[in-house]
Amino acid sequence: MKPTEQLRHEHEAIKLVLAVLAKLSSRLSSTAKISSADVDGVLEFITVFCDRCHHGKEEGFLFPVLTGTLPNVGAPVTVMLYEHEQGRGLVKEMVESWRRYQTGDKGAARKFTEAANRYIDLLTEMS
Ligand SMILES: [Fe+2]
Repeated sequence: MKPTEQLRHEHEAIKLVLAVLAKLSSRLSSTAKISSADVDGVLEFITVFCDRCHHGKEEGFLFPVLTGTLPNVGAPVTVMLYEHEQGRGLVKEMVESWRRYQTGDKGAARKFTEAANRYIDLLTEMS
């Protein structure tokens, strides 16, 4: 399997988890019950697999190859790096607001769902 095919497969896994995140976020903004373990699992997947592993591979291997071999890709790669940074900020917001929610700050649910929705939109546009 080519490395680019591997990255495309990873996009499919990420899309599935984004669908789960959307469902959890929707439940958190309603009175529906929510499983802490499910939210923790999604946040761990996003932090470790999406950001560290997948985006790490794009930044460490794909983007340097693109900028080293193709003309006129500097600007698109710069945009993709910026989007990765935006994603990291939104993950941080989700993790922090989830921790606050778990310690009794029910108002943090709104912060979580806002960050989750923005993260889902961002990653959907990127893939
Ligand atoms: Fe990607």
